[in-house]
Amino acid sequence: MCGIVGYIGYRDTVPVLLNGLRRLEYRGYDSAGIAVWNEQQIDVRKAQGRLANLESLIEVSPVEATIGIGHTRWATHGKPSHINSHPHTDVHRTFSIVHNGIIENYLQLKDELTAKGYVFVSETDTEVISHLLADCYTESVFDAVQKATKRMRGAFALAVLSIYEPDRLYAVRYASPLIVGIGVGEQFIASDIPAILEYTRDVIILNDGEVAILTRDGVEVRTFEGQAVDCNLLKVDWDVSTAEKGGYEHFMLKEIHEQPSALRKTLTGRIETDYHRIKLDDLGMKVNDVKNIERIHIVACGTAFHAGLIGKTVLERLLRVPVQTEIASEYRYANPIITANTLVIVVSQSGETADTLAALREAKRQGANVLAITNVVGSSVAREADHVFLTWAGPEIAVASTKAYTTQLLGFYLISLYFAQLRGALSSIQIGDYIAALQQIPDQVEHILESFESFISYAKQLNEKNNLFFIGRGTDYGVCLEGSLKLKEISYIHSEAYAAGELKHGTLALIEEGTPVVALLTQDDLFEKTLSNIKEVKARGANVLAIANADHASLRDASDAQFFIPQTNALFHAITAVIPMQLIAYYAAWLKGHDVDKPRNLAKSVTVE
Ligand code: G6P
Repeated sequence: MCGIVGYIGYRDTVPVLLNGLRRLEYRGYDSAGIAVWNEQQIDVRKAQGRLANLESLIEVSPVEATIGIGHTRWATHGKPSHINSHPHTDVHRTFSIVHNGIIENYLQLKDELTAKGYVFVSETDTEVISHLLADCYTESVFDAVQKATKRMRGAFALAVLSIYEPDRLYAVRYASPLIVGIGVGEQFIASDIPAILEYTRDVIILNDGEVAILTRDGVEVRTFEGQAVDCNLLKVDWDVSTAEKGGYEHFMLKEIHEQPSALRKTLTGRIETDYHRIKLDDLGMKVNDVKNIERIHIVACGTAFHAGLIGKTVLERLLRVPVQTEIASEYRYANPIITANTLVIVVSQSGETADTLAALREAKRQGANVLAITNVVGSSVAREADHVFLTWAGPEIAVASTKAYTTQLLGFYLISLYFAQLRGALSSIQIGDYIAALQQIPDQVEHILESFESFISYAKQLNEKNNLFFIGRGTDYGVCLEGSLKLKEISYIHSEAYAAGELKHGTLALIEEGTPVVALLTQDDLFEKTLSNIKEVKARGANVLAIANADHASLRDASDAQFFIPQTNALFHAITAVIPMQLIAYYAAWLKGHDVDKPRNLAKSVTVE
């Protein structure tokens, strides 16, 4: 999730690239860089940190050109640093490229190219592409792109500049968005429309497997196989702020809809389908350390804590090891019992939450092995933990967390299966079945998102309500806690999440005529139990929306409305089950006219105690 921009034309290219990057800075901001052809050579400027650092660098060391590429980075492979920032070049600077996506087989390609004498300077997967293009080049850049793309697996959106054809730019798309902007005597490349709106509103959206060749006079699009493509020109009538949100009214809605692609990214390179294996060797955990784990503490705050509650169930079910999930602000002062074989898993989207970081330090002080699940490479949590699982969800701008949460859940699934694999707790056939289910999740989320309108009508019913209950059992209870938090955070409607069986021991008295209750039933073994809890609240006048994984006549009879999510392994329903709750929360807040992305009294990252 980084930002790409490219320009060829008659203007001074540096301000055009910097303007474009400024528009994309929300997509990544740990480093930025540009590469231009200055009529003699490819000239590169890059700087760690915000775009302002790159701008200061260029002020001190200016460069002039009318063709160039730029990038703002959100690190995945390799920490945020000058050396890891884009553009990357081959040793002789014949090619310079910027890249969004992940090259799954980059280690294999790196080994091959190293053996041929190519020298790598960064830790990134991207650098492989520049050397690969140089290696594939014989007669034309297009030919090199064709050969290189045949070798690359994963996702890539590329802008390519080469000294061999200094009056052309190449835009290459596979499984990562890329557009071309059409002007008069000038053309643009961008990962997102806002980057170029200042200059043109005529856009070509590239499809997977297409290459655009840009000259000052025009654009030609071909498939990777070399066939000419007839492209439709899109006229963009969005303003910049709508464009930044991909046409959605709020970042939160955009991020809710980004979940299928975010989840696919989290899975990228982590599954060997042919061998029924989970591939998480980059966690760097020794097989014996995993085998020796005797107990696990999961520590986090807010939404990440809710992900940890599901993580506990999954780890316990698959490994039969005791797991406890703790709120970080409690854990750090609770003098936790940590033994030599305790694994502490800290979960933090930002990797900067003060309480989580303090808990991590306390765990380390007591000698624990710490694994972090985080979305931010180079964050404090990522740097201080012994092992890191990156969720690769891309930057999350809305304060209320959505895609960060679902990718954390997916992280827990992958880690649990990986541990089960190393400990021999599951056979490879069993792991194969789980993998098959995991791979369907992004499509299932996409399917649920298509029904977003049903949640607008449901949210309308909540408009006059001051109180709502979420009930569920097992992992459904954990999901209810997250659904309730989401609703409270942005709509300010009070709600409570209850373990369905516990309601009658507590606040059942608050259920009265018309009280909305969202009941979650995705665990077949607990279905009848939760159904009887629905009957308890119905008997007191509740209005029940049931979200379930299968249509049952008894459920239709007992509830007022139903929504069915696709069937999958019971442990994995948490991801799909939360989507309706995110949509309900979003539309409830939207109907009330709230500032959804910046709810009152809530910060995205809480770096104070
Ligand atoms: C804040 C945010 C929550 C988030 C929590 C933990 O309270 O508002 O949305 O879940 O921090 O953040 P982290 O970055 O550690 O996941």
